[in-house]
Amino acid sequence: MPLFDTHAHYNDRAFDSVRSELLRSLPAAGVCAVVVPGVDVESSRAAVALAEAYDFVYAAVGIHPEDCAGAGEAELSAIRALCRSPKVVAVGEIGLDYYWAENPPGAFQQEIFRRQLELARETALPAVVHDREAHGDSLAIVREYPEVRGVFHCYSGSPEMAEELLKRGWYLGFDGPVTYKNAKRAPEVVAITPLDRIVVETDAPYLSPVPHRGKRNDSRNLPYIVEKLAGWKGISPEKMAQITWENGLRLFGLEE
Ligand code: NI
Repeated sequence: MPLFDTHAHYNDRAFDSVRSELLRSLPAAGVCAVVVPGVDVESSRAAVALAEAYDFVYAAVGIHPEDCAGAGEAELSAIRALCRSPKVVAVGEIGLDYYWAENPPGAFQQEIFRRQLELARETALPAVVHDREAHGDSLAIVREYPEVRGVFHCYSGSPEMAEELLKRGWYLGFDGPVTYKNAKRAPEVVAITPLDRIVVETDAPYLSPVPHRGKRNDSRNLPYIVEKLAGWKGISPEKMAQITWENGLRLFGLEE
């Protein structure tokens, strides 16, 4: 069963000592497609370089809300230019993060988020959205761009918000936290999410699923997430892997 990790930061320095060995090992471990998102210009360039080096790797390019301090026209132009690379499949990760007090001010995050949704609209690429403790504003802003679709990565909003996003054509991404004992909202959200709108992601090197919680994460842990979701949906893990594989291809426009 092929697995599609729709969100893994192999451009992160956590992988510096193991990157090529680890990436080379993934297809044999069943991980046959990976999207590597950028969080700023430099990491977006690194994502594109990885996508050019490995057949099964694709890139998203964008400026993350936690990393947007000082971003201006030069940075946005650089991201726009990267969108022309043939293996760039999305604008991301972009969005809002109100969790950390030291993050750039909310109004500035919103401005950079809007500018990148405009870029997604202009390039007809899907958006990979990071929304942490900013559900109301994230939803309000994506509503301003009804032509833009994509994925709410590591979805953490309410079932009601999920319903509205699904109605608008968005996908929802699920990660290691679905395996944590305190996962309360996720089963409710998954219950109302049609199978054809679920994608699986590790967010490596972060968010390792149980039983590897706290360790550096990588795409080989995807089966723990797939199994949990399959159990909630009452289907086999093989079927869930197949469905999320097809969903990943459709979301990122990679269908043959
Ligand atoms: Ni991420």
